[in-house]
Amino acid sequence: MRRYGYQGHALIEALHTAQEAFGYLDDFTLRYIARQLRLPYSKVYGVATFYNYFTLKPQGAHVCVVCLGTACYIKGSPELVSALESAYKVKAGSTTADNALSLLVARCVGSCALAPVAVLDGEVIGKATPAVLLERVQQRLGAAQPAEVAS
Ligand code: FES
Repeated sequence: MRRYGYQGHALIEALHTAQEAFGYLDDFTLRYIARQLRLPYSKVYGVATFYNYFTLKPQGAHVCVVCLGTACYIKGSPELVSALESAYKVKAGSTTADNALSLLVARCVGSCALAPVAVLDGEVIGKATPAVLLERVQQRLGAAQPAEVAS
């Protein structure tokens, strides 16, 4: 924020930097940024909740984002979400009880030609199937196997 002279146009950069530092954007951080940039809290909150990149909740050790944009939806991404929800007992938009996996959804991650797409810890998995995605997530999580995947 200092680098940008505490001007309002530093908002995205400030949110990005704060999330990189803390892992997510809590209310205290949003209010601090709003105060420093002399912006209404509603604007800061609005930007932080508009972009899928920003999160207001702590994330798990691993993050899987399933694209539910039109191309991916048509190609079967809802089945990807259902498979993960079922296997790991987690609802889209939340984190498993052991904080191992956050399951998020997005409205297009910019790789429509690879639909359906999931992004696992920043790695794009194109033309994903439930079986492939469950296997890749399982590899990331290591030993802790959900009952549906283990059998
Ligand atoms: S709709 Fe999924 S990547 Fe564009």
